[in-house]
Amino acid sequence: MGNTAKKQIAIGEKAQRKQRHFIAVSSGKGGVGKTTIAANLGAALAKLGDKVTIIDMDLAMPNLEIITGLGTPPVGLIDVLDGKLELEQVTYTGPMGTIVIPPGVMLDGYSNKNKDRIKKLLMDFPLESDYVILDMPPGREAVDVLWSEIEALIVMNPDKASVLDAINMKALLDMREIKVLGAVLNRARLEDETWIDEIERVLETNVVAVIPESGVVKDSLNKEECFVVAAGDSKPSVEIMELAKELSGRAPTQ
Ligand SMILES: Nc1ncnc2c1ncn2[C@@H]1O[C@H](COP(=O)(O)OP(=O)(O)O)[C@@H](O)[C@H]1O
Ligand SMILES: [Mg+2]
Repeated sequence: MGNTAKKQIAIGEKAQRKQRHFIAVSSGKGGVGKTTIAANLGAALAKLGDKVTIIDMDLAMPNLEIITGLGTPPVGLIDVLDGKLELEQVTYTGPMGTIVIPPGVMLDGYSNKNKDRIKKLLMDFPLESDYVILDMPPGREAVDVLWSEIEALIVMNPDKASVLDAINMKALLDMREIKVLGAVLNRARLEDETWIDEIERVLETNVVAVIPESGVVKDSLNKEECFVVAAGDSKPSVEIMELAKELSGRAPTQ
């Protein structure tokens, strides 16, 4: 009898343990703010008490390292894919205690071989994390390493080209059965609020955050810091913290 009671408690604890979430921060084209949002969202979730790993999936133009203050890391994902190191050996400590994984020098980029190896690594992900944030490269290729357990945010800017790119990316993610959590409208000016209804209609997803165009973003990048750490009271930081709260169920979704 005693045993039965104990077992029940154990099951209860397991049920309460949070599920791991993979969030791919994606976009159709480059330069819209994926890395900025991936790094700050990761730091924001860590600030709320979650264990967060951020992976730089941009093999050709890795720059998560700058904003997370890592400098030039000597080893990265490539060393794991090549079987030289374990994933634990290519982790670095980023803002708010996040774990950051750089790609290292991967000359062949998203080759079919690398895609298979990266997908396998993600599917058997060995690090304990509540959230694994994937800072995606632009374009379609890297979407091949995602699968239906992964959720995605689509980052876009308030201009027509970016909206069209976001529509294409959404269609691709839908096709792969990757749940789109919503769109993040980045670099928005006050007048861009009028776009939101239209964006939600054409994308068939909610705009879950609106991050303003702000000098704070550039300043913190130049200081190699995340604004949720360096400028916690700034508007971009408040918006990202709100998004982190919504994602982690600490605030109601709109
Ligand atoms: N909200 C913003 N306000 C001002 N500058 C921004 C904002 N978001 C991003 N940027 C700037 O835009 C550039 C591209 O951002 P980045 O996050 O590297 O984009 P991506 O990863 O999509 O290529 C960076 O110089 C960054 O500082
Ligand atoms: Mg980037």
